[in-house]
Amino acid sequence: MVTGGCGYIGGHTIVDLIENGFDVISVDDLSRGYMDMLRGIERIVGRPVKNYRVDLCNLEDTQAIFIENPDLVGIIHFAAYKSVPESVKEPLKYFRNNINSLVNLLQCVEEYEVPNFVFSSSCSVYGNATDLPVEETAPLAEPQSPYARTKQIGEAMCRDFLSQYKDANISLLRYFNPVGAHPSAIIGERQPKPENLVPVITQTAVGKLPQMQVFGSDYPTRDGSCVRDYIHVMDIANAHTKALQHLLAGRNKEKCEVFNLGTGNGVTVLELIKSFEKVSGEKLNYKMGPRRAGDVVAVYANNNKARNILGWEPKFDLDTMMETAWRWELTLKKEADKIRLN
Ligand code: WQD
Repeated sequence: MVTGGCGYIGGHTIVDLIENGFDVISVDDLSRGYMDMLRGIERIVGRPVKNYRVDLCNLEDTQAIFIENPDLVGIIHFAAYKSVPESVKEPLKYFRNNINSLVNLLQCVEEYEVPNFVFSSSCSVYGNATDLPVEETAPLAEPQSPYARTKQIGEAMCRDFLSQYKDANISLLRYFNPVGAHPSAIIGERQPKPENLVPVITQTAVGKLPQMQVFGSDYPTRDGSCVRDYIHVMDIANAHTKALQHLLAGRNKEKCEVFNLGTGNGVTVLELIKSFEKVSGEKLNYKMGPRRAGDVVAVYANNNKARNILGWEPKFDLDTMMETAWRWELTLKKEADKIRLN
């Protein structure tokens, strides 16, 4: 079961799971996800994928899915709201959705004896990490947003649940900055009002946005702009497949294990823009602007644990991340032009 299967990371993960021999059902209420994502997945994998359009905050509707699918080997739980600025504006909406859905799912893990659970977490649990590259043992910092807080609470709920319920194993996967799109350009991220850097860049380059701003040029970094660990969404996807295989093989040493999912390379905003301009051949219209509240100066992963224990290896480099993001944006433009012409 992949919750949030019609979303960006969930959709790409379903492709990787199916290509690695898994049968997958999606659970997505389409409040943020798109049926286009499911159609795209089916085109790539060449077979139908079922989505249960269910709000995971509704316990009865959620239980009905487990009754209909009694032999689940695992749940990969992506479904959550994930906009940092929106969570600042509407914290209760984030707590209600992101926490209640997890409570219901963990109750179903126990009631329907699902043996494995993979939880989508985030590097934002580290806050402004001082020791870089950041390791899984780094102390968690005061979250910078209610969104990040729901990820910290979610991890703690998984641990507390396992101290009571002994018959499940959990992997907590902390993503750094997922970017890019499936190489086929059939699926990718849809951000109508983009907040994250790469969709802002591609929408500016394609003409949807007039100009973009680099938030801050006076940080204590190589070129004054923030440092992040950008990682291709298909590398993130494969890490989920590997985490599930790890749990299914019983190789996990602890009941609840946490892994950083990043490339280990810190890249500045300006370096990413340079990479984008190189692979797209586009001159990006941007200007240097003031810092954005809540941004950390630099964060990038020590990913040795996922490499050594999960046997996972990030495969896509920065140029390929930019190239696949750009080709996806061009696909969206073709789609929009077709609709306009009809
Ligand atoms: C990256 C860098 C911005 C837009 C967030 C969440 C994190 C995860 C990924 C969910 C920063 C700069 C951005 C722009 C810019 N989400 N930027 N101009 O903030 O690192 O992480 O998204 O799991 O939890 O916190 O990602 O892409 O928003 O920003 O200069 O128009 O790009 O200042 O330095 P972020 P981002």
